[in-house]
Amino acid sequence: MTRVLSVASECVPLIKTGGLADIAGALPGALAPHGVEMRTLLPGYPAVMKAIGRKRKVADLDDLFGGFARVYRGNLGKNVLYVLDAPHLFDREGGPYSDPQGRDWRDNPERFAALSSAAAMICADGIEGWFPQIMHCHDWQSGFAPLYLRELGAGDRVASLMTIHNIAFQGICQSNMIDTLGLPRSGFNEKGYEFWNNISALKAGLVYADKLSTVSPTYASELMTPEFGMGLDGLLRERQEDLVGVLNGIDDDLWTPPYATPAGKAKHRAALRAEFDLPDWPGPVCVLVSRLTEQKGLDILLQALPALLDRGGQLVLLGSGDRELERAFLAFAQSHAGVATTIGYDEALARRMIAGGDAILVPSRFEPCGLTQLYGLRFGTLPVVALTGGLADTVINASPAGLAAGCATGIQFHPLNAQSLAQALMSLVKLHADRPVWKRMMKNAMASPVGWEHSAATYAALYAEMVKTV
Ligand code: ADP
Ligand code: GLC
Repeated sequence: MTRVLSVASECVPLIKTGGLADIAGALPGALAPHGVEMRTLLPGYPAVMKAIGRKRKVADLDDLFGGFARVYRGNLGKNVLYVLDAPHLFDREGGPYSDPQGRDWRDNPERFAALSSAAAMICADGIEGWFPQIMHCHDWQSGFAPLYLRELGAGDRVASLMTIHNIAFQGICQSNMIDTLGLPRSGFNEKGYEFWNNISALKAGLVYADKLSTVSPTYASELMTPEFGMGLDGLLRERQEDLVGVLNGIDDDLWTPPYATPAGKAKHRAALRAEFDLPDWPGPVCVLVSRLTEQKGLDILLQALPALLDRGGQLVLLGSGDRELERAFLAFAQSHAGVATTIGYDEALARRMIAGGDAILVPSRFEPCGLTQLYGLRFGTLPVVALTGGLADTVINASPAGLAAGCATGIQFHPLNAQSLAQALMSLVKLHADRPVWKRMMKNAMASPVGWEHSAATYAALYAEMVKTV
């Protein structure tokens, strides 16, 4: 068994703001059959402390960034969860990264340096007699961990993997935090964790980890370009030998459609239309479940939507985030009969939408992997996606060739602008009207390999290759 400590800032079913939580929650179970014993370290936010219920203290950390901290052991399904209880950093109302008004916590650098530092200590000293061989870090929140591990003198015993789920979040703070964060001054330069005169937690991870990964092969290539690398493309090009793209999967137990064949969808489609009081139009019912942010290309969707609605298509949208986008979609729904907007976060509704929709839209500007198109494939809800990142790797386009070969599973569009999305929506309406072709695509989609089997084996092989001590 390879022993891996996964260090994450969110994890399903305990705390979630996006896809990272799904992945952190799914990995231990997906990897177990591949000879990997993964345990997860998570901050002790109130929701997590409450959820673990009866807990056992397994470590005391005397002074962790200004206060006393403990590590508790809990369970994550069948797997072990370690919770970093540091009340001065994590015991507060609000989200994992921001206060109830949505403003980032001012002490985020210390909060996640604390998580990183605890991870490094666990890897250096072991915990309960368990000694991780690999430290698997996710995103900037655990970015300092590989550096702390080296500072503890354990970098030659424990290997580290840094996974980029989204390079748009880099964990940047001012250089006057160097001492507060316990960083070595010798690393404050271009070759180290310095980034345009600031400190970058993500860059620290990308410099000091042994291996790097991201969540799809296409995003791995894109990250090495100035367009997508967000200032870190040069570093990633230098480290390209160490960078791999491993596709995310979805958890079969959590994402199984309530029907086994395309015909089973009709009932759920009718229910969705009734729930949102949609008019009885002939075209496809499209759904969209997303954080409403710049990344997701929703401003472009607003411009392209008339092409769908004018042809009898409809849209049910669920999301929250950017206030302006929320207002714009609410206003659009008010003035268009075929559009329903729900602002909020609602897993049960997301499921009903994906079960009832004909197509799922993901018009992202960039998308490291994307999970909703995978749910769509699994549920025979055909994805209409931008040709980027994981969206490029998981959908087979209904091009003339794809259709002739009988293997298409969705529609991809490029470049990312309103005109090309409008074209894609027009093609969608046409395909939807061609019942035999549509049914074939639904079947293909439902048979797509969107689970973890392949990627779990890839991670297991990567860890095995990285192990420094047996
Ligand atoms: P990202 O991590 O960039 O937000 P992903 O597609 O990887 O994008 O993951 C998003 C996850 O969050 C999916 O599981 C999706 O279903 C879920 N999600 C996003 N917004 C909502 C919402 N408003 N209600 C319910 N689930 C949502
Ligand atoms: C990020 C990305 C998303 C990816 C998720 C999980 O939030 O935006 O594309 O699926 O992480 O890896």
